[in-house]
Amino acid sequence: MYRLFYDNLVVRVDAERAHRFGILAFRWGGWAFRLGRALRVIPRPASGVSAMGIDFPGRVGLAAGMDKNAEAVVGLAAAGFAFVEVGTITAQGQPGNERPRSWRELDVHGLRNRMGFNNEGADAVASRLAGLRGTRRGRDVVLGVNIGKTKVTPPEQAADDYAYSARTLAPFADYLVVNVSSPNTPGLRDLQSTEALRPILTAVRQAADEAVRRHVPLLVKIAPDLADEDVDAVADLAVELRLDGIIATNTTIAHDRGPGGLSGPPVRRRAVEVVTRLRARAGDGLTIIGVGGIETEADARALLDAGATLLQTYTGFVYLGPGWVARLNRDLAA
Ligand code: FNR
Repeated sequence: MYRLFYDNLVVRVDAERAHRFGILAFRWGGWAFRLGRALRVIPRPASGVSAMGIDFPGRVGLAAGMDKNAEAVVGLAAAGFAFVEVGTITAQGQPGNERPRSWRELDVHGLRNRMGFNNEGADAVASRLAGLRGTRRGRDVVLGVNIGKTKVTPPEQAADDYAYSARTLAPFADYLVVNVSSPNTPGLRDLQSTEALRPILTAVRQAADEAVRRHVPLLVKIAPDLADEDVDAVADLAVELRLDGIIATNTTIAHDRGPGGLSGPPVRRRAVEVVTRLRARAGDGLTIIGVGGIETEADARALLDAGATLLQTYTGFVYLGPGWVARLNRDLAA
């Protein structure tokens, strides 16, 4: 049903416009998904998993980038995601890159984007999240908050920029993610080197601890294009700084389809490799969230077998639709 809808209607609309319609549908149509759940048309995850001190109702969550400004959190959770990661959010609001900046790569079930962290900024998103967390439904969602560097902030001030977002958003987050792996903010991925990353993660940890009494788990999100030695170095740093986890991976620039990062099945194999490497290097203490190209239960299991505790999807959800994630969560629990 969704496939027919996607292949015949959605693909006729510009990718970014279709995305906007989707967010509005989940924002205003969440009641339909809740009804679907009540009537058991949409399956509930059959069992949960505990990680980083959080009880997740299932293994598969929504990856960052779809609900950048936290507009549709409750509707997306009702559609079947066990947890929702909002963002990337930057300290200052910014428009992102000029359009077009998002394309479908239909032949590989992929998406390609160079959005450039278009978002309303930490203060605006914090006030929306305050409203969300003021409601029972909003409190019930396991919510990740993904933060990035404001484009105009020079690299040497990156730690302060991230810390501002952490301080502002930590009160509403079940976990925080430092994103240093988007290919679409100039110089951002250079922050994955341990020298650049250490002060950022230290500042974010401190800002979150000052802002909130409870321990807000902190993760770092990395690119699939890192060399193996650099993956190992991030794992070592995560252990050294007692991070709670790592998210692997973001989109890849290893393609020849035009500008921007590519997502979906082309990322899958490297995502499994990176997760395997991280697990071998970091041991059992870290939570690894595996993300990249999941379309089937076998894809999901490959990432879990590689060492991921939790999973996320973005592109698979776009191609396979609501319902798919809920079924995947149920099947993985079985
Ligand atoms: C993304 N992704 C992303 N990641 C992130 O940390 N912050 C962001 O703002 C975005 N934005 C974004 C926009 C678009 C249009 C896409 C397709 C992707 C990356 C995403 O969270 C995920 O890591 C990758 O897409 C790989 O997973 P999938 O899509 O193959 O399941």
